[in-house]
Amino acid sequence: MNTDVLLGLQWGDEGKGKIVDFLTPYYDVIARFQGGPNAGHSLEFGNEKHVLHTIPSGIFHSEKINVIGNGVVIDPLIFEQEILNLKKGGLNSTLNLLISKKAHIILPTHRLLDAASEAAKGKTKIGSTLKGIGPTYMDKTGRNGLRVGDILLPDFQEKYEFLKRKHFSLISLYDFSIDESFNKNEEEWFKSIDFLKQFKQINSEYLINKYMDDGKKVLAEGAQGTLLDIDFGSYPFVTSSNTVSAGACIGLGIPPTKIGKVHGIFKAYCTRVGSGPFPTELEDESGEKIRKNGNEFGATTGRPRRCGWMDLVALKYAVMLNGVSNLIMTKSDVLSGFDQIKICTSYKSGKENQDHFPFQISPELEPVYKDFPGWKEDITHIKNYDALPLNLKQYIQFIEDEVKVPISIISVGPDREQTIFRDNK
Ligand code: GDP
Ligand code: IMO
Ligand code: MG
Repeated sequence: MNTDVLLGLQWGDEGKGKIVDFLTPYYDVIARFQGGPNAGHSLEFGNEKHVLHTIPSGIFHSEKINVIGNGVVIDPLIFEQEILNLKKGGLNSTLNLLISKKAHIILPTHRLLDAASEAAKGKTKIGSTLKGIGPTYMDKTGRNGLRVGDILLPDFQEKYEFLKRKHFSLISLYDFSIDESFNKNEEEWFKSIDFLKQFKQINSEYLINKYMDDGKKVLAEGAQGTLLDIDFGSYPFVTSSNTVSAGACIGLGIPPTKIGKVHGIFKAYCTRVGSGPFPTELEDESGEKIRKNGNEFGATTGRPRRCGWMDLVALKYAVMLNGVSNLIMTKSDVLSGFDQIKICTSYKSGKENQDHFPFQISPELEPVYKDFPGWKEDITHIKNYDALPLNLKQYIQFIEDEVKVPISIISVGPDREQTIFRDNK
């Protein structure tokens, strides 16, 4: 059995958490392959909302196995908080949550380094979630990092002190002062390292490959989105991991020949949180309306998300990079009530039309739009595709024709139930 992948095709927050939770009944194992607590994956069911940062979105199905893969970076403090939140809801995740020994750990000083680096950048800051993601991946590739497996070894404290000293000397190069609360944070961090020890540590590459050999169905869950990929996103305004489907091979130890379906998820429009180019951004009433209707505020930082029209140049780029086999469109309901909706079909730079995602997106680059008539109906209760407004179906058809990949699931609200499967796609 091959592993399927589900990942975001835009700048993150496409609704991955909701859809992974919805698809979990069709799988045996859900495995996160990259990113860390910069992610905020929201799930809604039974009138309750849950936000996950590190834990895979299959966790609410207690009979399913959830794996945090080697490609993920873990902040033990945030992880503990997530587990305790789940416990409050009656969920004991020590039983069905397995963690790769090779996943890297975020230290309190990684977060300080993130903050110092962002502060030094001033206006050119990335808009990081300040969770220490970049510095932790830097230590991973610099071969200095601490891994989950290390916490059980006798020299853990020594390794920690060594890395902390290095971080302190780096921080001293910045105009950045370390808060008095650091010692308290460090103490809390060590307590949460102890908390982490009760979870089963695994060599996830062996386990996932065994699951596949045994005929179990594995779904690899992405975080962030393709346009935040360290190699292919709008660098340097990106995150520090490979968010594309190839990242699932690296982040879980799956051979490329064993990747099955790639579910690519996108919003019916675009959003971005943090800095960086965003060709179809709307800084007007329409953008405000999308933000309000879609409740577009970050699940991790609470920051308002920048909103804009659907960008087909970016979507086609993402579909190509990931080898997407089927598309999932979320937040279709948010576009209800617009007289007119736009899709960007190419970019214009001077007199030239451009249909490739450029090396650098200059402010002169202008999106070329095709207009679509909107629809007025509330669609949040609709359960089957045929009952959707004709204008929405035409919008969907246009995207499918352009991207040449079927849209197999349409989401019409945040709840698990507000999801339409198209049987023939
Ligand atoms: P993720 O990071 O990709 O998991 O996405 P987030 O959870 O950060 O952001 C998506 C937000 O949209 C969450 O608040 C979801 O509850 C919500 N959501 C997901 N699908 C839909 C949908 O189809 N319609 C609406 N209105 N909200 C949705
Ligand atoms: P999910 O999984 C949206 C953005 C940040 C910033 C840039 C770098 O919920 O889709 P980092 O903290 O990685 O140093 O930030 O990436 N970013 C996200 N934007 N959704 C996310 O995750 C994100 N994770 C990081 O806003 O612009
Ligand atoms: Mg999110």
